[in-house]
Amino acid sequence: MIIAKTVAEVRSQVREWKKEGLTVGLVPTMGYLHEGHASLIDEAVRQCDRVVASDFVNPTQFGPGEDLESYPRDFDHDCQLLEEHGCNMVFHPSVDEMYPDGNGKTDTYIEILDDMPRQLCGKTRPIHFRGVCTVVGKLFNIVTPDKAFFGQKDAQQLAIIRRMVRDLSYGIEIVGCPIVRENDGLAKSSRNTYLSEDERKAALVLSQAIRMAEKMVADGERDAKVILDAMTAHVEKEPKAKIDYISAVDGVTMANVDKIEGNVLIAMAVYIGSTRLIDNCIVNA
Ligand code: PAF
Repeated sequence: MIIAKTVAEVRSQVREWKKEGLTVGLVPTMGYLHEGHASLIDEAVRQCDRVVASDFVNPTQFGPGEDLESYPRDFDHDCQLLEEHGCNMVFHPSVDEMYPDGNGKTDTYIEILDDMPRQLCGKTRPIHFRGVCTVVGKLFNIVTPDKAFFGQKDAQQLAIIRRMVRDLSYGIEIVGCPIVRENDGLAKSSRNTYLSEDERKAALVLSQAIRMAEKMVADGERDAKVILDAMTAHVEKEPKAKIDYISAVDGVTMANVDKIEGNVLIAMAVYIGSTRLIDNCIVNA
């Protein structure tokens, strides 16, 4: 596997592959890779001739007081996982390589101006999706992939990237991949490593509430409030849990819905101790 640190190295390798008529898949990550990321690489390997993963903790998507400095990093382990899963190149740039103005700052952003990035996670993380769109847009320009692979666990991010690709006419197919869970249901996340043993147990309320919502919809419940109230009551029974949001929104626009009709995203963010975890499901009625 090629380890590329500069934009120039990535561009020159991708140019070679494209000259040979090979298709290129991109899996953007912030590193500290787990089975969730591995499943994205596996899907990219299935669908594309060559796979590039980016491994970059992107400063512009972290707000003041968030975990940018403490975000877990283990590049050697990442390389091992990527290589085992058939990744052809990892792009691991420095902050200055990605943001030449220095200190992870930029004056040029990609930002969706309507409510979409201000719903759900955007309510408490107001600059988050602007940073995500900016870095993903830059990665698209650097790697020029045919397809890019994102996890459904970050459902709002996936919807926003699809919107950005449509609005800015990127000729890239966005592939959403299913959430990967631990055996007991907890959605895999790099931030799970922050949890103490007791918090790890408490964190199960998220996936339990998601399963509860799926069952209620399968049993015929169509009133979003009834479902959200039941989920809230379940999470509130756990003393270590503090709800950020539990919402039902349109799967494309992220606008709140009252009725479960069509493609609805039921999404939640909950603090377990000081760790903010997210989970979701898409229901279709
Ligand atoms: O989902 C992530 O890990 C990040 O938001 C992404 C897409 C790699 C952009 O930094």
